[in-house]
Amino acid sequence: MTTLLKIDVSPRGDHSVSRALSKQFADHWKERHAGGKVIERDLATTHLPFVELPWIMAAFSDAASHNDEQKAALQIGNDLIAELKGADEWLIATPMYNFAIPAKLKAYIDHVVRAGQTFKANPDGSYTGLVSGKKATVIISSAGEYLPGSPAEAYDAEKPYLRSVLGFIGVTDVTFIQAGSTWKVDRGMEKLDELVSRYSDQVAVAASA
Ligand SMILES: Cc1cc2nc3c(=O)[nH]c(=O)nc-3n(C[C@H](O)[C@H](O)[C@H](O)COP(=O)(O)O)c2cc1C
Repeated sequence: MTTLLKIDVSPRGDHSVSRALSKQFADHWKERHAGGKVIERDLATTHLPFVELPWIMAAFSDAASHNDEQKAALQIGNDLIAELKGADEWLIATPMYNFAIPAKLKAYIDHVVRAGQTFKANPDGSYTGLVSGKKATVIISSAGEYLPGSPAEAYDAEKPYLRSVLGFIGVTDVTFIQAGSTWKVDRGMEKLDELVSRYSDQVAVAASA
């Protein structure tokens, strides 16, 4: 069965632009993949501790040597990595916070980008991604506009970072959809549905690719 892992990040529920667009994507994707399964990973409600010493000690040592604290530190990542690797396609829908990814998404990435699991270190010091054959779509919602070629593009540390980290683990087929000017909705100058509809065609194309 074809599966889509749908990762939502925004805590804003029905007010969220990225969630409205990810729902549209999932609806199109389900139409295209009859019998396909959408796995919902909601980071707003997922408990994600930051990576701390027990995790670091465990992630870079032999599993047979791990104490209970170290095993527990890795377990959440084990589950998230299995979920990620098990899906055929990924959708990440996230806000921009301070020109970058929200901390919750960074915490998720720190758990799933793990040596021996999603990448490996080679003897010559280079790295190889261990996740292959996946396609990803990233929807980024932001108050401002950071379109390619615009003066504001230089401030955008989110899109280049996500492209890099996905590529690092082996996912290079990535489509970005940037939904900007969400401030208009927050200030009541535009309805959420109107703003979302401006990006619906891009979403439909990405979900049908
Ligand atoms: C803590 C925080 C930081 C933000 N930083 C930025 C920013 O750097 N650039 C920007 O354009 N919008 C920024 N915003 C606005 C959000 O990106 C915008 O409201 C977006 O629509 C949120 O996504 P959502 O609608 O899916 O919740 C920020 C919002 C918050 C809450």
